[in-house]
Amino acid sequence: MKNIRLHLTAPILLLLSMLMFTTSCDTTEAGTQSDARVSRSSDSPVRFTELRHPEKVDSVLALMTMEEKVGQLNLLSSGFAETGPVLSEEYRDMIFESKLGGVFNAHTVEHTLELQRIAVEETRLGIPLLFAFDVIHGHRTIFPVPLAESATWDPGLIKKASRISAKEASAAGLHWTFTPMIDISPDPRWGRIVESHGEDPLLNSRFGVARIEGFQGEDLYDVTTIMATAKHFAAYGVPEAGRDYNTVDISERTLREVHLPPFKAAVDAGVRTFMTAFNEYDGVPATGSDFLFNRILRDEWGFDGFVVTDYTAIMEMMPHGYARDEAHAAELSINANVDMDMMSQIFLNELPGLVEQGIVKEEQVDMAVARILDMKFDLGLFDDPYRYSDYDRETETIMREDFLEFALEVAQKSIVLLKNEDQTLPLSKDTGHIAVIGPLGDNQYDLLGSWSAAGEWTDNVTLLQGIRNAVPENTRVSYTEGAKLDLHDDSQAGFDEALQLARQADVVIMALGEGRHMSGEAASRTNIDLPGAQQELLEAIHETGTPVVLVLMAGRPLDIRWADEHIPAIVNAWYLGTRSGDAIASVLFGDHNPGGKLTISWPYNVGQIPNYYYAKKTGRPIDPDQRYTSKFIDAPNAPLYPFGYGLSYTSYEYDNLRLSESEIGNTGRLTVSVDVTNTGDRTGDEIVQMYTRKMVASVTQPVRQLRDFTRITLEPGQTETVTFDLEAGQLQYLDQQLEPVLEPGTVRVYVGPNVAETLEASFEVR
Ligand code: NOJ
Repeated sequence: MKNIRLHLTAPILLLLSMLMFTTSCDTTEAGTQSDARVSRSSDSPVRFTELRHPEKVDSVLALMTMEEKVGQLNLLSSGFAETGPVLSEEYRDMIFESKLGGVFNAHTVEHTLELQRIAVEETRLGIPLLFAFDVIHGHRTIFPVPLAESATWDPGLIKKASRISAKEASAAGLHWTFTPMIDISPDPRWGRIVESHGEDPLLNSRFGVARIEGFQGEDLYDVTTIMATAKHFAAYGVPEAGRDYNTVDISERTLREVHLPPFKAAVDAGVRTFMTAFNEYDGVPATGSDFLFNRILRDEWGFDGFVVTDYTAIMEMMPHGYARDEAHAAELSINANVDMDMMSQIFLNELPGLVEQGIVKEEQVDMAVARILDMKFDLGLFDDPYRYSDYDRETETIMREDFLEFALEVAQKSIVLLKNEDQTLPLSKDTGHIAVIGPLGDNQYDLLGSWSAAGEWTDNVTLLQGIRNAVPENTRVSYTEGAKLDLHDDSQAGFDEALQLARQADVVIMALGEGRHMSGEAASRTNIDLPGAQQELLEAIHETGTPVVLVLMAGRPLDIRWADEHIPAIVNAWYLGTRSGDAIASVLFGDHNPGGKLTISWPYNVGQIPNYYYAKKTGRPIDPDQRYTSKFIDAPNAPLYPFGYGLSYTSYEYDNLRLSESEIGNTGRLTVSVDVTNTGDRTGDEIVQMYTRKMVASVTQPVRQLRDFTRITLEPGQTETVTFDLEAGQLQYLDQQLEPVLEPGTVRVYVGPNVAETLEASFEVR
């Protein structure tokens, strides 16, 4: 607070001393709430939020001019240079004029200190800035991409990874990350599937909560914790044709049953901020949606944090054909109780005029400002605006040795073994000559995957390096690229050298897949095959007769029908981050027994998409002998690999599925138990999955729904009884009026290693 005092005029100083009196109890009050501001049912668009620090927020608000208020609602991206984020003249002026509430892409202690000093010491009120960054799967220590991390089926592990990311990010001056992305997507054409946790609502809920808990910790006041963001609200993961930003057209039933549960779980876990989605829902762009933000988020769920738009999303309501002009766009968004404008600068420019003309209520603007100030108090920024920017902590924390070790563990556990015919894997480390072929074989850059925050590709361990680190000196390890990692380059100029190496080798490890920018934002594909000449290269190398192991790296499932038929071993390695090569090598040589499983049904070909496991049955279920049934005539209905699938170097047997009750009331519960035995000769991890199906209901139900899962470790010969609780409440669905119900009838329970191979039992709901 002392910095604020320097620049104040006398009357404001007086008020501020009152404020300082109230802020002095800040730490003890963190997390407490007042119910003085609850109002849920007025006609006014203003939704009053229960603030955590109501008196302190009020005292600051009382000092602010309208211009200062709308400045708090403005979020801009930092400038960049080769050396990292930089402060431009324009920004310096904007901060000086109190026109910024926060800056994203701003990190490093040096940079954040510079920005914060201007905000705190050179503006009239000295309100500190928020610093945000897309810390999606690591800040500097890069973990696997989220789709890969979800293949661990271990939210506890990802909570710990997020804790580490929070420590690094907060040590670099950050207060806020734009994660988790909990958009559900059953569409691998959509590039952002790489940032999701796959197609299932329960998995997205559990991983979303894990990330929120990891980043926000127990207490946001702790300088090693930062705010999380549930994004993108809502239904961003199902654009038509998988084309990013495209129109979304799904029923309210599907919205509520499939897409909203992870966001509700995020609110229940105390997530501090939400981000709007770029897409429209039911004809209304999300960023101006009264239905999504007022009715669902604020009224139904009572969300008490603030909402930030996605990048220029307020402005985009004009090209959507929804807002007439910038003033109209501002009105629509602020009245949807969207609080902070990322990049459009429309709140900044339009709200003062709208308030003056009486089009927007001043209390609507005040509420948005209050929500943002409330979080600044929660983070302790009014106690010490520089508390996150500490040079010593930054040096000690970034890329700590134990963080790198943990990144290796997460990478290992994210790998999914898709095929292993005749126990081709693991390889012996004494293999005479191993040839590594393919554009991802010695590639550091692409291992970062989409969104890599402060990650530096030069830190990454390539597959070639990982293999060399793992084998003895007398094992020859050779490498050639063979083909380019380019959608538009199908040159075969590198084939001869690759074929020559393959012929000399005892085994070829083909490292194929996508470049890191072929998935992620604005990276949708209509074709999900191996880009460039990689498929031809794979076929040519296979022709040599040397055994081939395919290591795939990509941000989405690819069309690998041919490989599945011809290549004996396939390892899906996604993008695994800093320790990629070490993790993959540990699987190839059996130092780590793979246990990851798919969180998305892996399509047979692009024409099957979307092909998610929780589909419904039709009136004409597939019958290969009957023409007029629901099927394709040129491809199977089933995906290439089912949801929940993944192999191990050992084998497991499931037996003795039993239910504690044969009948329950519609508020009752039961337990589901199964014996799982490791029948092979290696210790391994198994992911045990429980699904249910309500056989008949007043609204048709999916053929399977994941209800619970656990990842267990079993020694050879060991049997473990896995028990799941199942409560009637978990089985509820929406009736024809969209009210939750559980009607009488049979519920079938399925437990197994993936959705397609399960034991079954049934019980009745009375
Ligand atoms: C646009 C993306 O959609 C969003 O997820 C991200 O957080 C923002 N850009 C900021 O980088």
